Amino acid sequence: MGKRFYKILITIIICWLIMANVIRTKASLNDQPLGLTDEASIENVINSLTVDEKVQLVIGAGYPGPNGAAGSTHAIPRLGIPSVILSDGPAGVRIGGLFAGAPPRIATAFPVPVLLSATWDVKQIQKVAKAMAKEAREYGVDVLLAPGVNIHRDPLGGRNFEYYSEDPFLAGFMATAFIQAVQETGVGTSIKHFAANNQETKRTNINAMVPKRALREIYLPAFEMAVKQAKPWTVMSAYNAVNGVFATQNRTLLTDILRYEWGFDGLVLSDWWAVKNPVAALEAGNDLIMPGVYRGPLPMPELIKDVYTKASAPSPELLKTANQNGTLSKEALDSSVRNILKLIIKTPTFKGEYKNVDYQNKTSLSKKTAIEGARINREVASEGMVLLKNEDKTLPFKAVKKIGVAGENAVVDLAQNKLGIIIGGGGSAQVNVDPKKVVSLVQGLKNAHYSVVNSINGKKVIEGLSKSDAVNLAKNTDIGLVFIGRKSTEGADRPHMSMKPEEVRLIKDLSEAYHAEGKKLVVVLNIGAPIEVASWSDDADSILLAWQPGQEGGNAIADVLSGKVNPSGKLPVTFPVKYSDVPSYGNFPGDTVNNVVHYTEGIYVGYRYYDTKNLNLAYPFGHGLTYTDFSYSNLKLSSSKFLLSKNDPLSISVDVTNKGPVAGKEVVQLYIHDQHSKLDRPFKELKGFKKIFLKPGQTKKVTFTIDKRALSAFDDKLNRWMAEPGKFTVLIGSSSRDIKQEAEFIGVGKNGDWQNE
Ligand code: BGC
Repeated sequence: MGKRFYKILITIIICWLIMANVIRTKASLNDQPLGLTDEASIENVINSLTVDEKVQLVIGAGYPGPNGAAGSTHAIPRLGIPSVILSDGPAGVRIGGLFAGAPPRIATAFPVPVLLSATWDVKQIQKVAKAMAKEAREYGVDVLLAPGVNIHRDPLGGRNFEYYSEDPFLAGFMATAFIQAVQETGVGTSIKHFAANNQETKRTNINAMVPKRALREIYLPAFEMAVKQAKPWTVMSAYNAVNGVFATQNRTLLTDILRYEWGFDGLVLSDWWAVKNPVAALEAGNDLIMPGVYRGPLPMPELIKDVYTKASAPSPELLKTANQNGTLSKEALDSSVRNILKLIIKTPTFKGEYKNVDYQNKTSLSKKTAIEGARINREVASEGMVLLKNEDKTLPFKAVKKIGVAGENAVVDLAQNKLGIIIGGGGSAQVNVDPKKVVSLVQGLKNAHYSVVNSINGKKVIEGLSKSDAVNLAKNTDIGLVFIGRKSTEGADRPHMSMKPEEVRLIKDLSEAYHAEGKKLVVVLNIGAPIEVASWSDDADSILLAWQPGQEGGNAIADVLSGKVNPSGKLPVTFPVKYSDVPSYGNFPGDTVNNVVHYTEGIYVGYRYYDTKNLNLAYPFGHGLTYTDFSYSNLKLSSSKFLLSKNDPLSISVDVTNKGPVAGKEVVQLYIHDQHSKLDRPFKELKGFKKIFLKPGQTKKVTFTIDKRALSAFDDKLNRWMAEPGKFTVLIGSSSRDIKQEAEFIGVGKNGDWQNE
């Protein structure tokens, strides 16, 4: 046992220690691989995930999500992947209550999106978007399932109230503003429902056969603009099929157009139980199959029963088997997982910002947020109301103290769920409100210090009012007000746009009675989509379209009627004279036996059709009166030529003057008319708008720039946008039918190829 022996022994021990350490370090790396920390960690995480974990991640974690939200994603704690929460919706945060089987979490019911769009004012929609995002943050929501940008193809569409417009430019503009404002606060959005989800009848099975050109010019541009300009964190694929392929499985839409053409790099998630074939959905580019298993109240609510299928809530095992037998490729699975992880790292939950949210017990907003929500609701609601008619300047009220209010819609009876106003629509866009916080029309008028007579001879429901009751009401009050309401909901289209005979009788009787007294009658419409007005509008002196204005609706209506707010809303949708005038008439909701609807009207939707045909309308697209008057002058173009080869933007300016006695806002609208084209084109198309505020006597210059896309049509043979050479007219109007100024310019060059620019 000499020195040498000890030397060898020590060397062996040192080597052993080093080896053991290396082995231990390796083992610990394997046991605890690096988790999700940031974008750079994503590929390592994907490599560390087992197939079981991957297939779990691409299916939602079940309905309802924690706290009763619409859904959530799976957590993989060993890799630091948290579950994130997705919640509706377009008119306010909706968690719990309704069909969720969780206590309602009270939030602000904001005006419906069609009202937001009727403001034609990005500042207004952004105020609401920010307020909604704030409420979302209070409830720990990571992604707000909004906005909905489907086009109002037909006035009977059950969800039109939660979509913006019949016009893709206006819808895209509003959606872009909404998304930017929400995402600036660190909460994500989900632009929906991609694409051509324009009806509720047979919504999960209907095959929308949309001509390629109509798809590109009408049904996709709102998504396109928002995706390119606002980068929504997620896109929601729709229930329906588009041209024979279900939207959730439609590679052309979800991958070729959305990702390759428009550069979308976010997450595609399916509408709730919309997926028919989970493997096909993942392969087509639908990353997340929502919401996963149903564990809400039983029996399943009708709205869910209608959409739920076994395939739409697949088991992870099914996907694992598909992956093992090669039908679900590793590339598709990894790509979906990658997009899910990319979403997760952006969320407030991942960033640790929701640590203090008490998911189980929180059922109301903080006082400050609730007050702020109500204030914004009132302000924006009055901005989006549209004064359709105002004979003899009946509005604003002058020398009015006592108002005779009629119409069943004005009746408050909480036991029967009658709030004295319709604040919004039904389905996932409905918000859990505190009924005591809802301001009815009558309450709003009283808050504005009017006295209101709304019951005659002890009868509260004033429908069926006898002629002598009408005479009494007219004698005892200064002005009459009829409140007409309509509600619609996700899951069902409206049966018709007609008035009830008793409503028309009520308006006519009161009109006669008030006019006999030398007094006026006002009709306020509390609706989410056009109804028939032509048969009775002559009987009303003024008609105010209040839409479904949210929980502060009564106050906002009173603000407009009293003149505290000068109305400035404009119609984002045409009011046709009768339903048979509608371009989709006869092709809506399509063949419900064979589940197919043909969009035979093609690009001729809304005013594109009515203005090309020069049809008589009740109220045109873009229409809306005010308590002042505006004049337009001095239309100037930066050039009389547009060089198509260069795509140099053209600048257009026009002066607008407030000639009336009060301050007001005007929406200046820019339409383009293509004078000669090989392709059939609508007479005019909206390509710009600006809302400006003018004091009495003030003039402002309004400037627009248009690019080649504004002159282009989609050539379906060449499969590209084309701007044809020839003359164009710039039409500046205060509605699509009230054109104030016109100027011509020439598009010079060969057929311009938009995409190759
Ligand atoms: C609706 C979506 C909604 C989802 C989650 C579906 O029924 O179509 O718009 O976001 O439910 O509630």
